[in-house]
Amino acid sequence: MATEVVAPAKINLTLHVTGQRADGYHLLDSLVVFAELGDRMRFDPGERMSLRVTGRFAEGVPGDARNLAWRAAELAGVTLRIGLEKILPHGAGIGGGSSDAAAVLRSFGGADHAARLGADVPVCLSDAPQRMRGIGDVLDRVPGVPALPLVLVNPAVHVPTPAVFQILTQKTNEGMGALPSWTSPAAFLSWLGDQSNDLEGPAITTAPAIGDALQALGGTPGCRLARMSGSGATCFGIYGSEDAARAAVAEIATAHPGWWVQATHSIGSATA
Ligand code: C5P
Repeated sequence: MATEVVAPAKINLTLHVTGQRADGYHLLDSLVVFAELGDRMRFDPGERMSLRVTGRFAEGVPGDARNLAWRAAELAGVTLRIGLEKILPHGAGIGGGSSDAAAVLRSFGGADHAARLGADVPVCLSDAPQRMRGIGDVLDRVPGVPALPLVLVNPAVHVPTPAVFQILTQKTNEGMGALPSWTSPAAFLSWLGDQSNDLEGPAITTAPAIGDALQALGGTPGCRLARMSGSGATCFGIYGSEDAARAAVAEIATAHPGWWVQATHSIGSATA
């Protein structure tokens, strides 16, 4: 029987770089949420592994064992015909291949192997808001994160993650500290405004269009906060309402027809 799933976009609402290990990997402290928007995947049992990549962002995505989703199926011990519709830009700071791989592991088991596929794969095993520390391997659920209307903007530039980490000069920054219990979305946003993505500066140096994307988001009515996700290039804006987010999409897409601009919302913490 076929299984259909969405592999949601991962958004680093914050990303503090707090140190570097002897092996070169960086220690992070990041608040991660997932968007409703994601790649669409279909799994059918097959006699041989196969992977068909379609969609706007299919170009450049390997349809073989180089693809993390394929490798995830191997780790889960299943032989699948995978259909992958790339809705999200890849290599873009919003999870892409990591979320695709995690979707396979969620559906077929093998979650224990997630970290072997990449530092961002373990956090993508759940769509709940999480605090990610270590190199991405230390995960804690975060209660009290509201669902947020979002606009995602990718200014059609690609920044390789290692290159961004390489030009980061200050590698021992403050973490987020103890997370408060937010009593309202406004309190959450106020706290979020005091946090940062430490990779934003280095990423803008590598690709100045990221700065343009942040400015475009920040200039739309109702934008409460604009920041980059991951190592870029995708940036997000947080809005007070879905209507404000949709209006911002229309404005930015008109001014920048070559950019990927999407309204969505994040999935908040479950009320326990
Ligand atoms: O684990 P993943 O393949 O996603 O990481 C890509 C690259 O990003 C690594 O090779 C490393 O250069 C950098 N990275 C890092 N510290 C992290 C995660 C990634 O330096 N915590």
